[in-house]
Amino acid sequence: MVVKGRGVLGLFLLVILLGFVKNGEALAHANTVLINCGTNANVTVDGANWVGDKAPNKNITLSTSRSIEASTSSVDGNPDYESLYRTVRIFSEPLNYTFHGAPGNYFLRLHFYPFTFQNYNANLSYFGVETCGFTLASSLNVPYAISQKNRNSSFVALVKEYYVPIQTNSTVITFRPDKESFGFVNAIEIVRVIDKLFVDSVKQVSGNGATVALDLQKRGIETMYRLNIGGTLIKPDQDSSFRRIWEEDSSYMINQDAGTELKNTSKITYASPNATTLAPLLVYETAKTMTNTSLVVQLRFFNMSWRFPVDPSFDYLIRLHFCELVYDKSSQRIFKIYINNKTAAENVDIFTKAGGKNKAYHEDYIDGMTSNSNNLWVQLGPEAASSDQGSDAALNGLEIFKLSRDGNLGYVPNLGDEESKGKSKMTLSLGIGFGIALVAVIAWLIICLRKKKRTKDVKPKKSCGRSGKRFTLVDLKAATNNFDESLVIGVGGFGKVYKGELNDGILAAIKRSNPQSQQGLVEFETEIELLSKLRHRHLVSMIGFCDEQNEMILIYEYMSNGTLRSHLFGGDLPSLSWKQRLEICIGAARGLYYLHTGSERGIIHRDVKTTNILLDGSFVAKMADFGLSKSGPSLEHTHVSTAVKGSFGYLDPEYFMKQQLTAKSDVYSFGVVLFEVVCARVVINPSLPMEQINLAEWAMICQKKGVLETIIDPSLRGNYSPKSLKSFAEIAEKCLADEGVARPTMGEVLCHLEHALQLQESWLHPNDANSSHALESLDEREHEQ
Ligand SMILES: *[C@@H]1O[C@H](CO)[C@@H](O)[C@H](O)[C@H]1NC(C)=O
Ligand SMILES: *[C@@H]1O[C@H](CO)[C@@H](O)[C@H](O)[C@H]1NC(C)=O
Repeated sequence: MVVKGRGVLGLFLLVILLGFVKNGEALAHANTVLINCGTNANVTVDGANWVGDKAPNKNITLSTSRSIEASTSSVDGNPDYESLYRTVRIFSEPLNYTFHGAPGNYFLRLHFYPFTFQNYNANLSYFGVETCGFTLASSLNVPYAISQKNRNSSFVALVKEYYVPIQTNSTVITFRPDKESFGFVNAIEIVRVIDKLFVDSVKQVSGNGATVALDLQKRGIETMYRLNIGGTLIKPDQDSSFRRIWEEDSSYMINQDAGTELKNTSKITYASPNATTLAPLLVYETAKTMTNTSLVVQLRFFNMSWRFPVDPSFDYLIRLHFCELVYDKSSQRIFKIYINNKTAAENVDIFTKAGGKNKAYHEDYIDGMTSNSNNLWVQLGPEAASSDQGSDAALNGLEIFKLSRDGNLGYVPNLGDEESKGKSKMTLSLGIGFGIALVAVIAWLIICLRKKKRTKDVKPKKSCGRSGKRFTLVDLKAATNNFDESLVIGVGGFGKVYKGELNDGILAAIKRSNPQSQQGLVEFETEIELLSKLRHRHLVSMIGFCDEQNEMILIYEYMSNGTLRSHLFGGDLPSLSWKQRLEICIGAARGLYYLHTGSERGIIHRDVKTTNILLDGSFVAKMADFGLSKSGPSLEHTHVSTAVKGSFGYLDPEYFMKQQLTAKSDVYSFGVVLFEVVCARVVINPSLPMEQINLAEWAMICQKKGVLETIIDPSLRGNYSPKSLKSFAEIAEKCLADEGVARPTMGEVLCHLEHALQLQESWLHPNDANSSHALESLDEREHEQ
């Protein structure tokens, strides 16, 4: 069977009808039982031995009237678990595993890796799981659950974890297929928990100190998320107590730039001697603190926010793990904790609460979700009254557990709509001939289909003669000598830019994006869409594109003088004169002015910086890289969910805090560009003294003191009109106003820069009484509209 883009998969099929497996041995109790379902073979995964469920086992016995063992030769996307997920037990009638263990608390983990076997398509499978009087899952559809819960995660399997109080010496775990459906299970883990992981009464969010009974014996509890904040994935063999997985947190953050990772591996101890297995020390060694915006603004008036898709109508236990890793006294970090937009705690000072530095401790809260809330929010933010220094927050680990209200943890989304959407996605993947229904593959497919559709949208514009030409991959291979590395003229997160010669002899910059990257695809589409609509002397023009064979290649006019930045510092290019710099800034300002005003909706560039201002053979400046650009109105409602994008050092502090994007954010970044042009230094230089690290801050300090000339590019000295520089610096200063509304528009910036150029011209040629520059400039602008 051929899976598009993934090679050939041989599915090894092994079908066995099982009779009852009997086991009458006296049973010893084990603390960890790891079962590899659908086989009698043992495998070693995560440093542990997983025993085949078909082989006799004193810890667990399988009983079923009829079930099928199936295997696949290839498991995609999860190399660590490959050998475990290759086999599966499929059932169309109830399947029981009986666990023989001492009464006590256990973690029960069920692993589901969806693959299709004969006519058993995981997408069509619905089943429930029950044990100890709890319903753990009902009508579970694994691919759908993966798409809902692990939206942000790289895991392609579903691992459901429960904490079950076992009261007898043998406990039955029942898997029950829905009517006319079937179920499957790949692996089962049962891990004994000797310590008390949960206390009986937990603080309620905004309950003024009130607590509620956890009552686990009645409620049942399921782990939804477990994160190692600010650190990397912790695998089961690194959490020796209970083999837990601690995921990375970044993909759950609303604005990743709000948090900075912190790491300290010095000796950490548990604040309470009873809490040593709550989380491994590794969790406490890393944290996220609030990004030190003293580089951008004085105080931290924002939150670090994480958002988690959850099932509505359940209660949730939120456990926050803390450890002060930096300060050795109190009152250095004081913050508020918000859960679901409500204040859970105020004046939190980890140092005081934990009783010192490097002391690990945790806080638990309970909050209920209403029937229409699908997202759980955790936010940490400054205490309004605290000082500049104290307004910081930190979080080391986070766990979110789901609690039932009636012993039933199963959740069946009864939104007919939403579910059928999920199903139709699956049918789609089926129709294309998948052997294995991998979430990653589904996502990739949907993207490809979307891309095809979008490209179609672009095509008609071609007929109006505005859009670029569609190139074949063969053309582009010929142009770049098969993407020869020696022709690479730029590299970025998106991929590489090659210099190439098209068959008509025209030089081109050929940007080839990484075809796997979803991010890249969105930006690719944005850029084609925008560039095919925009033509301007000061915007880099697109010659064409290529979307053959999942390639995302854009072909631009070649800019022989490279980036503005390469002419300012860090290279051996001759330095630019003041007049040249002014002309370049004017060109770039024109390009931005056109972007902001030239189309009906207005376009915000979002990544204005000196490496995105390119120079052609005659040093005419053109704005490039529209990958992050956004059209105006569509942004209005996205300020909460849009992650802040742009480049550090150029980023508008107001946008950073409010996540509300306006054209004035480009104006701010352009102000930084102006100071960079005059000072010829990098915008963030951490090796400088504190107040000089951030160019925007440092230049503003000097400008306000009237000593900007002391920090300008030495190669300019004596070669510029002081009046011209003064005028230039004034507009740069205005661009950097804290509030967007106080900043000039690009049109105003442009007029001001033209005035500065005029002053420079008259200084250079004092006898030309009437400089005609201003008029010319205006003419040109009108012409271009
Ligand atoms: C599988 O592992 C179990 C437990 O360690 C062991 O008793 C058994 O002999 C192993 N089976 C095989 C076939 O290696
Ligand atoms: C932080 O989040 C809370 C809860 O959503 C909100 O009330 C508060 O205004 C936010 N604080 C800042 C500084 O944005």
